[in-house]
Amino acid sequence: MKEIKRLPAIDSTLALAFDGYEFISKRCARYQTDIFQTRITLENTICFRGEEAAKLFYDTNKFSRKDAAPKRVKETLLGEGGVQGLDGEAHRQRKQIFMQLMTPERLTALADLTEQQWRTYARGWENRSHVILFDEVEEILCRAVCEWSGVPLEHKEVAQHTRELSRMISGAGRIGPAHWRAKQARNQAEQWISSVIEKIRTHQLEVPQQTAAYAFACYKNSAGEPMDIHAATVDLLNVLRPTVAIGRYIIFAALALHQHPEERSRIRDGGSDYIHLFTQEVRRFYPFFPFASARTRKEFDWQGYHFPAGIRVLLDLYGTNHDPDLWERPDEFRPERFSRWTENHFDFIPQGGGNYDTNHRCAGEWLTIQLMERSLKFLVNHLTYRVPPQNLDVSLTLIPTLPKSHFRIAEVGLL
Ligand code: HEM
Repeated sequence: MKEIKRLPAIDSTLALAFDGYEFISKRCARYQTDIFQTRITLENTICFRGEEAAKLFYDTNKFSRKDAAPKRVKETLLGEGGVQGLDGEAHRQRKQIFMQLMTPERLTALADLTEQQWRTYARGWENRSHVILFDEVEEILCRAVCEWSGVPLEHKEVAQHTRELSRMISGAGRIGPAHWRAKQARNQAEQWISSVIEKIRTHQLEVPQQTAAYAFACYKNSAGEPMDIHAATVDLLNVLRPTVAIGRYIIFAALALHQHPEERSRIRDGGSDYIHLFTQEVRRFYPFFPFASARTRKEFDWQGYHFPAGIRVLLDLYGTNHDPDLWERPDEFRPERFSRWTENHFDFIPQGGGNYDTNHRCAGEWLTIQLMERSLKFLVNHLTYRVPPQNLDVSLTLIPTLPKSHFRIAEVGLL
């Protein structure tokens, strides 16, 4: 049996904070390995990356998600009782509720609502000296997803609820005041959404059957029991919050357009096919989720390494998307590489890997791609703007990260 390389440090929590997205890949490069173990927050943890690692990680016989996410992430990003912490049949049933929302018609409906909001917002930008695109895009997505989901949102509530959803994301990897703000944002958002579910259940609010609010509020299991209101709240927020998070990828798409101006004409000439390649490359290249975490259910051996029962395991999502064994020149932005990609479920994993129904792969991946593509079309075909000098650095230490300036644009025009 081979020994899994153990890092010399007693604990790597600080090193992880320091190296951020590159924590695992830097150590893989240093020790010429794709797997190592170390203590993180004083707990022994196996870290690995690559296609074979992803295949193992998404084997539900070997891994469980119970107690896998760090407490700080549950208090902010994920909440308690949602789909992410479930296993087996309970997971499959809950996941179905999400996947049934993702029909082609419903995805197009959300893309249409998003485009309408882009138009409305862009009209307002024409009279302003500049706008911070990230802040605007989050509001655009919040309005669109609330309407699509059947969640009432009045004009005067938009800024507040967008801020709540946004802070749950931005504060998830932080400590100190940003963490406290994220926790408070989760509490407020849960109050807001549980009152919506309560109103639907008591018939004070009628929402169409195809919406997410209806799906979680009115779900009954095979025994005819409804979902616990807290779980329903957390899972309806699991639609709203990550849809607002797509704003981060849209900003990275805008950044890629700015840094590679020749891509604009390729997008115009290449139509939907090229937009798709570009979108995939944005999701591969730019950092969003660094790792996914799980625990082994029982002990087993893999590729000559021993995995003990109950150990925490981190799969390197960012590092696998930049793995030099899988991607030629991984640190170059090259959309055309996706014309040769074969829909492999384990090498390109910005939103997790494996199967949508039975694994914890992101329920909103198709929706993410659709909204990115529609927004990209709008940016390229209907909007003119200048990108004034600003700090566009993307820190790989900050999780989740963004261009420092949040992408400021000026002299906006609508075509
Ligand atoms: C900004 C784009 C997004 C990124 C980067 C992203 C990323 C991820 C990642 C990394 C996971 C965890 C995979 C794992 O644990 O193995 C995940 C799970 C999930 N995502 Fe997303 N996501 C995004 C957008 C969305 C959207 C738009 C929705 C909903 C409409 C969504 C809903 C979910 C749900 C419900 C899960 C849990 C799935 C499960 O546990 O079975 N995500 N996502």
